[in-house]
Amino acid sequence: MKVGVIGCGTMGSGIAQVASTANCQVVLYDLSEDALVKSENSLAKVMGRLVEKGRLTDESALAIKNRITYSTALDDMKGANLVIEAIVENLEVKHKVFQSLEAIVSDECILASNTSSLSITSLAACLQKPERFIGVHFFNPAPLMKLVEIIPAVQTSAEVLQKTQETIDSWKKVTVKVKDTPGFIVNKVARPFYSEAIKMYEEGTADFATIDWAMKEIGGFRMGPFELMDFIGHDVNYVVTETVFKAFYYDGRYKPSFTQKRLSEAGYLGRKSGRGFYNYAEGAINPEPTTDPVLGDYIVDRIVAMLINEAADTLHVNIASAKDIDLAMQNGVNYPKGLLAWADEKGLPYCVSVMDELFDEYHEERYRCSPILRKLGKNNATFL
Ligand SMILES: NC(=O)c1ccc[n+]([C@@H]2O[C@H](COP(=O)([O-])OP(=O)(O)OC[C@H]3O[C@@H](n4cnc5c(N)ncnc54)[C@H](O)[C@@H]3O)[C@@H](O)[C@H]2O)c1
Repeated sequence: MKVGVIGCGTMGSGIAQVASTANCQVVLYDLSEDALVKSENSLAKVMGRLVEKGRLTDESALAIKNRITYSTALDDMKGANLVIEAIVENLEVKHKVFQSLEAIVSDECILASNTSSLSITSLAACLQKPERFIGVHFFNPAPLMKLVEIIPAVQTSAEVLQKTQETIDSWKKVTVKVKDTPGFIVNKVARPFYSEAIKMYEEGTADFATIDWAMKEIGGFRMGPFELMDFIGHDVNYVVTETVFKAFYYDGRYKPSFTQKRLSEAGYLGRKSGRGFYNYAEGAINPEPTTDPVLGDYIVDRIVAMLINEAADTLHVNIASAKDIDLAMQNGVNYPKGLLAWADEKGLPYCVSVMDELFDEYHEERYRCSPILRKLGKNNATFL
């Protein structure tokens, strides 16, 4: 199979590695010669490390490298069965690339975008054959993160959906099918992990070190919300929140926070700038958590209930199946459990009561309990 990858930045380089590791012939195209050289050098380093660790033999590392051709000529996409685009997040630029591409590839070639925030349907609309278009959303770093969200546009044919999902499954990824809605599954369902943590911090319920401690030690999450926001970068994390908020017609559930906006304005972007919520300078003193189990339970219960409610609502409006929502959160952001399975374990009436108590306290839209959670809770039913 010949796979084209457009854009050799963070995501394109990773996707090319994944496809080549799965024995595909890959053409990696970029406008920038420098970017291509950087991508090739970085793959060589990654392969070297994998050989050193004994995860790959010299021969297979060489074969993976040799199956990728680096190119600045879009014409080299000729003969591709699948082309995945991972260039700048700009609708007009992506439209131009796909229109040029459609004149080069065969009618059977599937065209896909790795976009995080643009509508797949609006991208498909620029094509002569929009039914061949689909979203394939990898996570960073693509070679390590198992999840790929597969997003058919309104125009995508059933055959293209099936073929794409089969192909990405054969690359040893966990695929989930998602309706073309803002944030798909992961970037939508994960919003409360950050926003509810920031809200508690702003209101002085607990400081960020305590919230991080609770979510890790009691909740079982790999990273606390503040550590994770510092890791992602406040500029990036804030923009995702704002994009989802706007795209859902300003639904109060996704309201961004001034605290995070101010951090990005200050250039306190997190790890990458040496300072975010935490200070990463050598010898810097960071706050110690208050390891109070009662407070810790309250924090975890509140954030997890909000996450469960968001997952339930995602199911309620048929964005994805219950199984796929759980798979997505476990494989896309490494949550310790699927959120709907977690809801079943806690008991749905309990989850409803946490949401209702928060709503009684705040009377804010963000705390409205999802109808499906309430309905199943009333019948003592479960999600899975
Ligand atoms: N970075 C992430 O964590 C992440 C995760 C999932 C999806 N995405 C999505 O993947 C896409 C790429 O993101 P990234 O972080 O890899 O970007 P990046 O900035 O690292 O890389 C983009 C690459 O595209 C090239 N490029 C720009 N315009 C081009 C054009 N017209 N033709 C050919 N090449 C062009 C640039 O030279 C650059 O090498 C975006 O749509 C983004 O939303 C990013």
